[in-house]
Amino acid sequence: MQENGAKQTEARTEFSPVIGAALPRVDGPVKTTGRARYAADYSFPGLVHAVPVCATIARGTIRTMDTSAAEKMPGVVAVLHHGNIGPLFHTVPGSHAGLNEERQPFEDQEIYYWGQYVALAVAKTLEQAQAAAAAVRVMYDAEAPDVSPVLDDKDVKTMTTSKRGDVGGGFSGAAVKLDETYGTPVETHNPMEMHATTAVWDGQRFTLYESTQGVVSHWNTMAQVLGVPKENVRVVSRFIGSGFGGKLDPWPHSAMAAAAARKLNRPVKLMVTRQMMFWDVGHRPRTQQQMRLGATPDGKLVSLEQHYRNPTSFVGNYHENCGEATPFLYSTPNLEVTSALVKRNIGTPCPMRGPGAVPGLFALESAMDELAIQLKMDPVELRLKNDTLIDESNGRPFSSRHLKECLQVGAERFGWSKRTPEVGSMRSGDTVLGWGVAAASWGAWRGGCQATVTLKDDGTARVSCAAQDPGMGTYTIFAQIVSDKTGLPIAKIEVLLGDSDFVPGATSGGSTLTATVMPAIADAANGAVRQVLALAASRVKAFEGKKPDELMMNGGKVHLKASPGLNPVPLEEVLRAAKVSYASADGRSGGLGSDTKARDYSTHSFGVQFVEVGWQPSIARLRVNRVVTVMDAGRIINLKTGTNQIQGAVVMGIGMALLEQTIYDPRNGHPINDNFADYLVATNADVPAIDVHFLGIPDPMMGEYGARGIGEIGLAGVAPAITAAVYHATGVRVRELPVKIEDLLRSTVV
Ligand code: MOS
Repeated sequence: MQENGAKQTEARTEFSPVIGAALPRVDGPVKTTGRARYAADYSFPGLVHAVPVCATIARGTIRTMDTSAAEKMPGVVAVLHHGNIGPLFHTVPGSHAGLNEERQPFEDQEIYYWGQYVALAVAKTLEQAQAAAAAVRVMYDAEAPDVSPVLDDKDVKTMTTSKRGDVGGGFSGAAVKLDETYGTPVETHNPMEMHATTAVWDGQRFTLYESTQGVVSHWNTMAQVLGVPKENVRVVSRFIGSGFGGKLDPWPHSAMAAAAARKLNRPVKLMVTRQMMFWDVGHRPRTQQQMRLGATPDGKLVSLEQHYRNPTSFVGNYHENCGEATPFLYSTPNLEVTSALVKRNIGTPCPMRGPGAVPGLFALESAMDELAIQLKMDPVELRLKNDTLIDESNGRPFSSRHLKECLQVGAERFGWSKRTPEVGSMRSGDTVLGWGVAAASWGAWRGGCQATVTLKDDGTARVSCAAQDPGMGTYTIFAQIVSDKTGLPIAKIEVLLGDSDFVPGATSGGSTLTATVMPAIADAANGAVRQVLALAASRVKAFEGKKPDELMMNGGKVHLKASPGLNPVPLEEVLRAAKVSYASADGRSGGLGSDTKARDYSTHSFGVQFVEVGWQPSIARLRVNRVVTVMDAGRIINLKTGTNQIQGAVVMGIGMALLEQTIYDPRNGHPINDNFADYLVATNADVPAIDVHFLGIPDPMMGEYGARGIGEIGLAGVAPAITAAVYHATGVRVRELPVKIEDLLRSTVV
């Protein structure tokens, strides 16, 4: 594996045309024809439906629970609760098993947040289970919850997450200073597909049909939670209607469904409702971030501080790493980032697309924009001035950093040179135009992974591993790599993902999956091709007397290297001549951690967002008119799915800047906008033309393909670019997201 890791760092220059092409998703047809099965689509004989009973207080204790009426209702099989759920276990820390909550469902009688599951009604039909859940009578001893968004709690433990130089001296001695506090609200994950578990127990083995971003980690975790050996659990997650971080680790409903299946000895289906999505399965926590920047009069940063806080629940310790990008994005001799957690009576937060970096960059990039205004300097110029090719937090060079080119290319594509800096100075009819810019960044990693490639005697290939595709195009990437290695057309390559019975894959998280799986697929494909070449040399007449290394595979055929194209023998003929059904190999990738060369570099992706907003003061209407996004994310493997990732993230960014916010009622802790009527997300009408451009410069530390992930970075920088544009149009600086009409009514621009 070490050897393999070292090999990976050698970038190739020649690729088949499928690499980088704008290919449609290979799983598109099964999805658009409704044949793709999601977790709640599975049904089995004897299957029963489970509906949770949810707490109607946010803090207190269950005094009594009366299930007698519910149990007598038609079709009801059981009502499970603290007294009868059966054993559910905790996991061993560091054992590749993760749980969002440090408490198993129904473990105690305490209520920690509104909507917490307190019981589970199970019945023959969904409607019967819903009726039974509504008939469970729970009496609580309620206490006043704390859901305050003001995070100024005293006596909290502060951690220093990055530090260099002397920020005290640096800031006090700076000619130009900025000291402001920025805030981002709770945002709730709302993937199209809600969380769901269909659990089957056969008396010995669980099969869990899940909607998960990590088949393998879900499998490891649920085996421990259920207290059974791993071979007694199978996790299937063929199709996922996205997750955005909310489906990285199991939530309590998975354990509830599995426990019910075991206890009742029949298949159980549990689907989280849209409303429960706002209560029980995570969210991006609120953040409160103080930024202190000091600069020279000509715009060189001399000091940078970020002091941030986020709340977490009483049953979790989730830390939103807002200082993800701050230590390395700009050059500065003095820097300090500190963080603190406070506790609130709200559900447990968890990662959401670009966790930490996205709210962190809202604060950092807003502060940079405000600093540029103080300096009377162009905000693009300020960022160019503080660019660095060394990661000053650890002294390592970046493997590939082209933020400067992103700024230059983006400015060109946007037409930035036509910008006049004065507030309200740009107009189009009765609309005031605002132009804003912000930088983006997100870490680039690759981990360890396996994959299996099989070349078959009908001339087709099959590639599989226990990874999964939450919708971003992973299925297609698998087919592309096999096609690149064998020359087989995409249509002849079957991709199978989302089953723990396959060799271990990796989690779809942190924008790491593409870079992680590609070397393993390539290794497996190379192995299978070597087998075919060996068979060709020994069993095919046309290659008599040749050695395997005198042969090569291209276009799905075996050729003589010395005379490629001259009488090649198709894959299927080689295998049939050898009387072999298939040639199959498992491949592995070791990841960055085992790559001795890559370890000496700092690996990140970079990008910029340029935004134009239109403000109509007479009717108080704000629109995003256009967005130009330029991304430095290594080689792009699929231009279509890659572009789609960035566009989708920009749409989320518009929602983050202007619409999204989960609001908790201070009296009872209830998220009062827990539905799609009241929780606003960006829709087509809110989304303008989005110009996505990739620099496409391969990262030499990311394996032979030089690709980095692109799931999250498209969201980074969107919100601060929008608030910068809003300031430019209106003169109102919004430091607390989302931008509200009542903020903009303060504008004196008419
Ligand atoms: Mo992403 S928040 O790592 O799913």
